[in-house]
Amino acid sequence: MHHHDLLIVGSANADLVVGVDRRPAAGETVLGSDLAVHPGGKGANQAVAAARLGARTALLAKVGDDEHGRLLRGSLRAAGVDTDGVLVDQTPTGVALIVVDPSGDNSIVVSPGANARLAPEDIRAAGALFASAPVVSVQLEIPLATVAEVARCLAPGARLVLNPSPPAPLPDEVLAACDPLIVNEHEARFMLGDAAGETPEDWAPALLALGPRSVVVTLGAAGALVAGPDGTRRVPSPRVDPVDTTGAGDAFTAALAWRLGRGENLSQAAAYASRVGAAAVTRKGAQESYPTAQELPGE
Ligand code: RIB
Repeated sequence: MHHHDLLIVGSANADLVVGVDRRPAAGETVLGSDLAVHPGGKGANQAVAAARLGARTALLAKVGDDEHGRLLRGSLRAAGVDTDGVLVDQTPTGVALIVVDPSGDNSIVVSPGANARLAPEDIRAAGALFASAPVVSVQLEIPLATVAEVARCLAPGARLVLNPSPPAPLPDEVLAACDPLIVNEHEARFMLGDAAGETPEDWAPALLALGPRSVVVTLGAAGALVAGPDGTRRVPSPRVDPVDTTGAGDAFTAALAWRLGRGENLSQAAAYASRVGAAAVTRKGAQESYPTAQELPGE
């Protein structure tokens, strides 16, 4: 009997955010707004997003024994995430340096800190969490060897959702376990290299040929494209005025993973996730921007 809907394995970062009129080019210095510090990290973001929607969610992650670690644990607990799997290390909590421009677009540099210490043995030691969840979602701000161990430790019948962000070459055994692999345009082009065509309809079959059971290409305001054994389909997104896109992809992925675990098909889950992602871009920050189910556009 599952007692979580979703297990997230991934990073937890303190996001140090500055608003700028224009993101700096190489060698350029620009002035920005006052510094804001928010709880973030792709793993913690996904966990908070799912829990705020109502999913029983657990996070397996590593933070430092410091103020940033306490900020993250507080945010996770406030959202209702099971934090028994949030381990504490003597390395500082991961940090993301983020600049956001007036259109809501961002640039991010991550210093992994304790995230880099989330090791394969931590995955093997978390058997009870893996046994408790029908869907496991993972990203690439933790070591690749740890991600590969996640794919090996899935409970029978459990589904793996992977967002390869930041992108890195993936072992075949990880690709083969993905159902779905979720990529944005940057990640699709990285994975396909010279073989990438020009449109998402070109990318989807090429990505499927790499081994995942299904693929979702996120397209920002244009929604998403889903591809799998039942074919390829575009899923629209509600129109909103973006304020800050930070973490919107994490909210999309978490929502999609949760709805797949509830038995929805890929198109249905992506349609729901698009509404969650759209709501998330209308507010500043990552975790603070995530909607409850009642706040979704169209509810
Ligand atoms: O996806 C957004 C996240 O990327 C931020 O919260 C930052 O921490 C980086 O991990």
